[in-house]
Amino acid sequence: MKKLKMGIVGLGRLGKKHAENIAFRVPNAELTAVCSIKQEEVDEAQEDWGIKYAYTNFEEMLKNKEIEAIFVASSSTEHCNQIEKALEAGFDVFSEKPLGITKEEVTYISDVINKHNDKKFMLGFMRRFDPSYIDAKKKIDMGQIGKPIFIRCYSIDPVSAVQAAIAFAEKSGGLFLDMMIHDFDLARWFLNSEAKTVFAVGDNYIYPEFGRHGDIDNGSAMIEFANGTVASFFAGRTSAHGYHIETEIIGTKGTLRIGNIPEKNLVTIFNENGAVRECHEGFLNRFEDAYLNELQEFINCVLKDRKPPVGAYEGVKATEIAYACKQSFSSKELVMIK
Ligand SMILES: NC(=O)c1ccc[n+]([C@@H]2O[C@H](COP(=O)([O-])OP(=O)(O)OC[C@H]3O[C@@H](n4cnc5c(N)ncnc54)[C@H](O)[C@@H]3O)[C@@H](O)[C@H]2O)c1
Repeated sequence: MKKLKMGIVGLGRLGKKHAENIAFRVPNAELTAVCSIKQEEVDEAQEDWGIKYAYTNFEEMLKNKEIEAIFVASSSTEHCNQIEKALEAGFDVFSEKPLGITKEEVTYISDVINKHNDKKFMLGFMRRFDPSYIDAKKKIDMGQIGKPIFIRCYSIDPVSAVQAAIAFAEKSGGLFLDMMIHDFDLARWFLNSEAKTVFAVGDNYIYPEFGRHGDIDNGSAMIEFANGTVASFFAGRTSAHGYHIETEIIGTKGTLRIGNIPEKNLVTIFNENGAVRECHEGFLNRFEDAYLNELQEFINCVLKDRKPPVGAYEGVKATEIAYACKQSFSSKELVMIK
């Protein structure tokens, strides 16, 4: 079996998971090289997993022609630059979301990606690869809930992860771009339509620390799509009960919900608090299958010469919505996306 030889940059909270998936969970992949600016992370990966090459400098990794594809899982501020360098060096590229953290950067990198259309590029909107979201999309497209007229999306991180989020805030691009972007992409995907009118609000209700980076701890947006569907989004970082990802679509003939109780597993504890179902602790366990499936899809696209289903265009459109939210949040006015 042909194995795609991959090098990954970024071995942090999510990069380590992607690296493990490449190394151990996808049969037609090989983790040939790892890279992080943190020496201890590359040492640990190399020693624990027996990885052939390890780098603390991304440009050095790109000189290694044994590698066939690059996985970008570094901080969001690095994506645009590293995607460009990897494409210019002749690699196929998978990048975590977001494409970049400014509108200009995203437009620029989208042009670069389109220029390199002989290379595969895929963006990590992994919810499109989650089995429940795939099933929901199929049911909507089959008309099982009629025509969607309202979509409601919650993405709330557990408060147990808030200190990591505060540390990450300087390089995240803010709540609308960092977190809500997943739901903007899902809404576009489910509705087959583009966002038109945006109103966004939010605040630092508990953690003023986010304010130092112009960010907020909880926010929401109301968006009208071009086909008339209304969408309501809530994203936050202070969920007491766990990682709460929930999506509801109301149609003319029925309603569909994904993850309305974010249950971790089938265990129920009966105690002085009643019948207790624990919730997902974070993205790593809720989207475990999705991370694996998106990686497998990218590798299949490279090996079978297929166009990846999620690319620069999806990144640009979701970023446009995030920036309209940022603008509306600052101006407290309705923003039209042209
Ligand atoms: N799809 C999702 O569900 C999801 C969830 C979490 C994070 N993310 C995205 O994944 C990316 C990584 O997030 P994280 O939480 O793992 O961040 P993190 O801060 O934990 O890790 C960042 C990693 O990148 C490395 N790095 C930073 N700059 C570098 C450079 N110039 N060269 C080499 N290595 C560099 C760091 O050393 C570290 O290993 C972010 O863009 C984030 O938005 C996506």
